Amino acid sequence: PALHLLPLELRIASIGKDDLPSFTYPLLQMTLGLLGQQSSCRQNHFFSFTETKNDYSLILDNELFKELIQFPGSEALQVAPESWRPLTIEVGAFGSLTGISKLVASVIGPLADEGVSVFCLSTNQEDYVMVKEKDLYKAMTCLHPCFKLLAELEQDVQLIENFSHDNVPNQIKNDLNYIELPSPRSITHPFTCTASKFHVCSILPSTLPSIAQPLLQLMFYNTRSDDVFLSLSIISDDISMVLDARDIDKFPEDSVYSSEAYWKVITIGDGPLGFDECGIVAQVAAPLAQADISTYYICTFYNDHTLVPEGSVTKALQLLNKYLMSSKV
Ligand code: ARG
Repeated sequence: PALHLLPLELRIASIGKDDLPSFTYPLLQMTLGLLGQQSSCRQNHFFSFTETKNDYSLILDNELFKELIQFPGSEALQVAPESWRPLTIEVGAFGSLTGISKLVASVIGPLADEGVSVFCLSTNQEDYVMVKEKDLYKAMTCLHPCFKLLAELEQDVQLIENFSHDNVPNQIKNDLNYIELPSPRSITHPFTCTASKFHVCSILPSTLPSIAQPLLQLMFYNTRSDDVFLSLSIISDDISMVLDARDIDKFPEDSVYSSEAYWKVITIGDGPLGFDECGIVAQVAAPLAQADISTYYICTFYNDHTLVPEGSVTKALQLLNKYLMSSKV
């Protein structure tokens, strides 16, 4: 396994449903700017925009965040108190699992056990696991057997910042232990699933001229009022979108790439989940991983959302219900 710490500080924010007009201009500029840039410039940025029925939820790198709060009207922005650091983890194949399910055994479970709160964002290509800046050292040492050993040997935080897999002595590389799925834990927050179906798509930057208009229309002038869920992430060359299946026709053919498959969104939490509680992702993802169900996972300012293949949603809900705390006698 290789663990990458992206050199970015992230802020999590929320725009109220009625406040979007004050932010349309800066967000529009930001989106177009990022999509139009050479990929080398985009590399230092992290932009994620998710519309849910409660709000518009943002994850931005510090630079974009500062840009946004310079605009008049930005007092309306709600901001999570701490900054977060994104990690990506290559774990190789874990059976046929994809998405966050693949990370349950090696990352999500261990972090929850250590009491580290996470914030997750899956894209079509990658799963970003964010931890608070202040939990970084704890997270890194608990995650990576290499890190653990190196940290014990050197007691040096700098080493972690400058980590490269090539620096790891071979005997440590060979020492990576076999990992097992953690056993499912009780689910503490209720969940719901709407009727809508979604696509998880990638956007090729070269198709920008043809997708800009429908994309911006959906982001800023969405007329859908039922079951709304739309997510756009621009992270280096990883440009990904979760799109209501009814909206795919708004994009020219071949401009967005998605597997034909449909996904359903299960929303976790009937009130704000906050930023300090740990183990929510683990509670939901572990039983799904155990049942071989692939999942995408998108945390937003108020709630968590897990996407499961349409064909597995009945089974997924059954499993989650089985572990839901209040349903236990
Ligand atoms: N911190 C939670 C966990 O460690 C996930 C995020 C929940 N909070 C939120 N605002 N979506 O499992």
